[in-house]
Amino acid sequence: MRVLGIETSCDETACAVVTDAADPSRRILSHSLFSQMREHAPYGGVVPEIASRAHIEHLDGLVAEALAEAGLELADLDAIAATAGPGLIGGVMVGLMTAKALAYASGKPLIAVNHLEGHALSVRISDDVPFPYLLLLVSGGHCQFLIVEGVGRYQRLGTTIDDAAGEAFDKTAKLLGLGYPGGPAIERIAKQGDAARFSLPLPLKGKPGCDFSFSGLKTAVRLALESCGPSPSERDKADLAASFQQTVMAVILDRARNAIALFDAAHGAAGKHFVVAGGVAANATLRAGLVDLAADHGMRFTAPPMKLCTDNGAMIAWAGLERFRLGMIDDLEAPARARWPL
Ligand code: KG4
Ligand code: ZN
Repeated sequence: MRVLGIETSCDETACAVVTDAADPSRRILSHSLFSQMREHAPYGGVVPEIASRAHIEHLDGLVAEALAEAGLELADLDAIAATAGPGLIGGVMVGLMTAKALAYASGKPLIAVNHLEGHALSVRISDDVPFPYLLLLVSGGHCQFLIVEGVGRYQRLGTTIDDAAGEAFDKTAKLLGLGYPGGPAIERIAKQGDAARFSLPLPLKGKPGCDFSFSGLKTAVRLALESCGPSPSERDKADLAASFQQTVMAVILDRARNAIALFDAAHGAAGKHFVVAGGVAANATLRAGLVDLAADHGMRFTAPPMKLCTDNGAMIAWAGLERFRLGMIDDLEAPARARWPL
């Protein structure tokens, strides 16, 4: 079985072909990606109109590249999958309409994939992680805990009530003048910083449930920066980055404890997998904290390789493949959706 997947919901134009080989290392037949990071960097964040135009410019070429790299023609595919939401609607429309055109022209079935389902199942490309598992999805657009019970069967335990964790990293980086994307920049300078210097509030810490809130933290960072005077030094910035990062980690670990308790009550946590996905999963401090937390609860920690953690085409192709195997296909009327909770 071979499925083409298209991802255009944010600032990565991506396309991949996957197959259901028994050996996980052979499942990705090709993987093409154009990162628009440079287009958006001058604005300190993703500009929707620029993103849509860049998807239009690059997608056709990436589809051709992904097919060529896999040594396949359109006619060799079993299905064509694309992100149908949630995301920036212009971009989603570019990807979904392209997939519809390819499906119509080739007579192959279309699978309209929820981007979050793509992230939720991505760990199963590289690892045969069994259902059910607990997923922490932390990216620039999302911050939530899900129990992944099966394909199309998700229980959301908590989500952010304002900003996503990656967004908080990006906004803090912007305040500190570090450029976009902010996560890697903060992590880099935080290494030289003193995390104990600034005491920042821990939003929702100790509260029941596993929702997140990060917007208050952003305000606290701004006030802390202002307290350093009109021209903060490199040391001030490094200390603030370290304090911010440690605070985000403390909040995530606090929420994760509650999520594990809920998962444990539903399915028994011991021996099950705790999975983390999304761009923020690249953060070494967060990973280390989660590895320890999972071990404390007898859970197995798994994260997809980094190229599958951030937005990519393979996760959409794979979610399409898992759906296709179960007969879950869509018709050409499938709508593009800006909002689409799992
Ligand atoms: O999953 P992703 O590529 O795109 C979305 O779906 O949002 O995640 C991008 C986000 C950005 O906010 C970026 O700042 C954050 O992931 N990020 C990080 C790190 N690397 C990327 N955040 C913290 N530490 C990192 N090392
Ligand atoms: Zn994403």
